Amino acid sequence: MATNRTFTMIKPDAFGAGNSGAILKMIEEAGFKIVALKATKLTKEVAGKFYEVHSARPFYGELCDFMSSGPIIAAILEKENAVADFRTLIGATNPKEAAPGTIRNLFAKSIDANAVHGSDSDENAAIEGNFFFSQFERIA
Ligand code: CMP
Repeated sequence: MATNRTFTMIKPDAFGAGNSGAILKMIEEAGFKIVALKATKLTKEVAGKFYEVHSARPFYGELCDFMSSGPIIAAILEKENAVADFRTLIGATNPKEAAPGTIRNLFAKSIDANAVHGSDSDENAAIEGNFFFSQFERIA
């Protein structure tokens, strides 16, 4: 069954550049409601656990190094068709391929420093949201 929630992170590049506020504004203006939100900093081990699904990929080490290189913002977002609509809002993983006006088109620097993460399925949205937030850290 499709759910109406997705999970996102504002990555260290965008957080460090002071773009968190602009990105959250775009997210809210696109109709997403914030269900949970926190600023935090991942250790390399925690980043490795979060991205375990990519552990066999050649970029896994660099991904974990990058995601633990500075603070991030993690959030659960709610909207009808949340996963697909959020992926449209953020644009392609590689910013060179991200459509004009998308978050990655505006703020990403490279395929690693690509400003934001967005869940790729309802199942992963639930897993990723649960990874970061307990029930007491959510509005609902
Ligand atoms: P994200 O949506 O957070 O999911 C995994 C991340 O791996 C992805 O964004 C990219 O930042 C990073 N990555 C680095 N190289 C690649 C690649 N070749 N293909 C997909 N993702 C990559």
